[in-house]
Amino acid sequence: MATPVPYFSLNNGLKIPAIGMGCWMGDVGGGPAVEEMCANALKNGYRHLDTAFGYGNEEHVGKAVRESGIPRNEIFVTTKLWNDCHHKVKEAFEQSLNNLGLDYIDLYLMHWPMAQIDDIVLGPEEHPTIVDTWKEMEKLLETGKVKSIGVSNFGIKPLKRLLSQCKVVPVTNQVESHPCLPYLELKNLCEENGILITAYSPLGQSNRVFLADPDMIKIAESHQVTPAQVAMSWAVQRGTVAIPKSANLERMRQNISLVTLSDKEMDLVTSLHKKPGMHRSLLAYHHDGGVVFGWTYKQLDWPMDKGGFVIDQENNCILRSKTHPTSFHRKWPVTSQAPLTHFPMTRQNQCSGSSPSIPLTSFCAQTSLPLTSSLQLKIQSSV
Ligand SMILES: NC(=O)c1ccc[n+]([C@@H]2O[C@H](COP(=O)([O-])OP(=O)(O)OC[C@H]3O[C@@H](n4cnc5c(N)ncnc54)[C@H](OP(=O)(O)O)[C@@H]3O)[C@@H](O)[C@H]2O)c1
Repeated sequence: MATPVPYFSLNNGLKIPAIGMGCWMGDVGGGPAVEEMCANALKNGYRHLDTAFGYGNEEHVGKAVRESGIPRNEIFVTTKLWNDCHHKVKEAFEQSLNNLGLDYIDLYLMHWPMAQIDDIVLGPEEHPTIVDTWKEMEKLLETGKVKSIGVSNFGIKPLKRLLSQCKVVPVTNQVESHPCLPYLELKNLCEENGILITAYSPLGQSNRVFLADPDMIKIAESHQVTPAQVAMSWAVQRGTVAIPKSANLERMRQNISLVTLSDKEMDLVTSLHKKPGMHRSLLAYHHDGGVVFGWTYKQLDWPMDKGGFVIDQENNCILRSKTHPTSFHRKWPVTSQAPLTHFPMTRQNQCSGSSPSIPLTSFCAQTSLPLTSSLQLKIQSSV
């Protein structure tokens, strides 16, 4: 039986609905389709919408909120500071508020840790650093036009760096998370510091491999729900907010209809990533250079190697599958500097392979990229 969507408490005492509607439409914009999706979501019980300046659809999300007839204080609206605005936080925030046509924003996130000026992506030590940007975001709270601030795509090191210098602890860290990427260590760190994880792409975006996993299917059948509902229920039951996107009425209703999983079922889903080839990001922004939006995995402190496969620290390897269609077996060139990044990108992982793991040492040797450098970057789309 479906249980109502709970609210989680943020570290500032405010509440956030545990499921939100993601508003990234697969490309910048979306116009009336976003408005229709948000209007339908609100009619079907959603009270949390997740957009971003970079999605190019704040106007339409705001219109759906304003025209919903639902009191403003019952809807939780998140938007995000885009990378090329870290040096002008106040102006960017006012622009988003204006685009949304709302009196206030519930949650404003630093979308990515890297600042970008025009086409140049700055290194972690260049101004504005994450700390510089965060200090400007803290000032926004004083205006009363934003209730909470948070970060997104922060790995452990950038988060610790921010925590050591911030006055206001972020209420959330929005990161990709689903059964293939449970981010257990990051989640622990966040929990120790009162930071809620918000799971983006909780269905794996367009690469929903874990929905076809036999354990997921079995659990879904036993509750007479879909594997997607199992994934949403697992996300919420483990204490993370999930923001699935669906423009389809039936699927959006499914995603907000949660079931209670047993401890054994929770453990099975939490362990799914241990299956060969499964511990990985499922997004398309990973590509050959091992660079995401201009920063290396090392700069981001994402525990991954090329293609977004997570390095198993215990065994010093990436667990690969011989049969999994997305398994990773590639000889990549040695690069002395991060390559130019062009978006949108396509997934280019090759399948095949005979050995079950690749030693970490050879990964490091082949992927050493500079720690700080300004990278030429042309952003054409964002998530
Ligand atoms: N902070 C960041 O950097 C960042 C990055 C990525 C995403 N996000 C946020 O997270 C949100 C969600 O992530 P996402 O849009 O990347 O991916 P997602 O929610 O994991 O997956 C969306 C895809 O799954 C399909 N889908 C939805 N419900 C389904 C169901 N019950 N069964 C099967 N398929 C289903 C959708 O198609 P239909 O619409 O046809 O149902 C759509 O193609 C975004 O919209 C955005 O708000 C944030």
